[in-house]
Amino acid sequence: MDQFLTVAREAAHQTGALLRANWLQPKTIETKTDIVDLVTNVDKAADALITGILHARFPTHQVIAEESAVSGQESPYRWYIDPLDGTTNFAHGFPHCAVSIALTHESRTIVGVVHDPLRDETFCACRGQGATLNGTAIRVSSAPTLDQALILTGFPYDRRQRSEFYLRFYQAFMVRTQGIRRAGSAALDLCYVACGRADAFWEWRLHPWDTAAGSLIVEEAGGMMSDFSGEPFDVTGEQTLASNSAIHSQMIEVLQTVLAVEQSEGKSVQAAYRE
Ligand code: IPD
Ligand code: CA
Ligand code: CA
Repeated sequence: MDQFLTVAREAAHQTGALLRANWLQPKTIETKTDIVDLVTNVDKAADALITGILHARFPTHQVIAEESAVSGQESPYRWYIDPLDGTTNFAHGFPHCAVSIALTHESRTIVGVVHDPLRDETFCACRGQGATLNGTAIRVSSAPTLDQALILTGFPYDRRQRSEFYLRFYQAFMVRTQGIRRAGSAALDLCYVACGRADAFWEWRLHPWDTAAGSLIVEEAGGMMSDFSGEPFDVTGEQTLASNSAIHSQMIEVLQTVLAVEQSEGKSVQAAYRE
């Protein structure tokens, strides 16, 4: 496992240097699934850099990277890469973004690295070995109730079509917590829960490259991951809930209350969500 972590950390640092070098340079910005779903020339260059490093070091592994889809052969080892998590921030010069690299073995995440190049912070975890920030062990917070919690969220790229649905959850948490932040990088949101800067995080419709590394870092720091009903977290699923463990059941209670209201209005969760 150590060699995987070493290569992942090295790839994250090299990519971080590329992001830093291009941080304030003019960028080419295009859109993907929606006019708010951006990709820059730097996302693409970062993607090529990481996939190149991983294929050179582990030629039999499969790599799934956000900007280049699937490469390499079928393998029990699969890397999930977000070369630049926080593209909207990056495109606007808002200093909050990360590189996220995870390795799964037979669908179980075993290594996760999230590197913030602008703060020079690197979060790492190997399954069963704890989580670190710049080499020092990290732990989730001990906030015991939602009343005392600062929580994080994000909105997926279909937010213009489904704003009301997503805002119902936001409103429910707004009246139960000390505060909510939407900082624009799901990978860093998860790491901030892991190191106790925040107490929980929820978001709909993230992708495996957003959550694979950060979810392992949360669990290895003593936190809890699940879907919105408490079922085991699945990186390919539509619901991401992370917490310091202590407030996990309260997070689920709020999420379920909102979903129940949706259903009592005659819509199934999926129908409400999809319409
Ligand atoms: C996005 C960020 C954002 C989250 C979006 C993600 P990207 O990733 O993580 O915080 O709210 O759902 O898609 O596009 O910047 O890699
Ligand atoms: Ca992302
Ligand atoms: Ca990205």
